[in-house]
Amino acid sequence: MQQSSEEFKPTMDLKDSLEILKWQIEMGVDEIIGEEQTNHLQTTVMATKPISLELEKETTSKREPSKSLIPENAPQSKVVNKAKALEDAEKLVSEVSTRQELKEALEAFQHCSFRNTAKNLVFSDGNPQAWLMVLGEAPGRDEDIMGKPFVGVSGKLLDKIFSEVGLARTNTQPQDSIYISNSINWRPPGNRTPTTQEIEMFRPFIWKHIELIKPKILMLTGNIACTAILNKAGITKLRGTWEKIDYMDVMPTVHPAFLLRNPIFKQHIWQDILAIKKKLIDLERDENA
Ligand code: URA
Repeated sequence: MQQSSEEFKPTMDLKDSLEILKWQIEMGVDEIIGEEQTNHLQTTVMATKPISLELEKETTSKREPSKSLIPENAPQSKVVNKAKALEDAEKLVSEVSTRQELKEALEAFQHCSFRNTAKNLVFSDGNPQAWLMVLGEAPGRDEDIMGKPFVGVSGKLLDKIFSEVGLARTNTQPQDSIYISNSINWRPPGNRTPTTQEIEMFRPFIWKHIELIKPKILMLTGNIACTAILNKAGITKLRGTWEKIDYMDVMPTVHPAFLLRNPIFKQHIWQDILAIKKKLIDLERDENA
């Protein structure tokens, strides 16, 4: 429909707007997450920020370095109280004795701002009796929509690799199945990398999750999972080396999304999966001895 110049007074040249829109689509923008960008931790400071479009990365894309929404000069104690977040997380998990209760505790945890932009809590998938638990990083777009971990491109690759050695989340035998969760259970906006502080506030939930599943083997995919569990990063050096934590054998390995960008690491993840499979066979033999 034609509009008269009185009715429609663009503040920007239409051609420029179209060029910008075209560029945004090429860059992968496919979703607007809100009319206004809101830092729910400090609404007053952010109230004047301009409209933001969330740049969606495909599931395999590299996570962006964290860009804090918090202005540098903001008083830290007012922005987020790390000790209080941890205290509340610990209090919530102290009352948990089932996976359902853990899920409810995560839903009740108010300190992580990701919950404000995420669609769904992404809790877990697979067999809770599995001897092998896989801990990923954080949900991406597909996981956020489905409410399940590792259902996007990198998840499909992971399933394919596991299927080569007879492991699957749908298997019923504990020694042949997998239980999967993430270090962070809400999708970070724009797939950005969570900060150390954000990783830390989920630790009590992760450890409770591990305690409830009691896996014999814990596989850590990527640096965020290594930071959460081992308190260290540098996955290309950490991968392939067993660590022992209490009763669990822990194996760090490269994240499947990293693998998709760096296929040269295929042989490394393959070695790690074979080492895990061998350990499962040894454990089964020991159980039957
Ligand atoms: N990457 C992860 O680390 N976890 C997911 O659930 C999906 C992608």
